[in-house]
Amino acid sequence: MLPRLPTEAEFVDVGFVAEVPAQGARFVQVGGREVMLVRRGGDIAAFSGSCTHNLARLSEGVIDGGQIVCPRHGARFTLATGKSQSSLCRDLPSYAVRIVGRRVQVRL
Ligand code: FES
Repeated sequence: MLPRLPTEAEFVDVGFVAEVPAQGARFVQVGGREVMLVRRGGDIAAFSGSCTHNLARLSEGVIDGGQIVCPRHGARFTLATGKSQSSLCRDLPSYAVRIVGRRVQVRL
């Protein structure tokens, strides 16, 4: 049975704010999709954790100088914005984030 995707209106709890590192990224699963959480100033942003070139898992990539490097073909994305630095790829899709108390919630 396939995992049920959250509806548009649903925010899904993905953990504590403190679990998102000041540098780098935290990867979580939401509705069967990998989501990358990053710090952006005082906020947290959420992006797809799948490379827009050929869907490699960015959680298996490396972080280098504020960018995450795709493990498959080396495309780079700026962590704070999800912006592609490679002509191979589109920017990473972003998702809505809200903080409730000390918890992070994401809506796909
Ligand atoms: S799958 Fe990421 S660069 Fe090709």
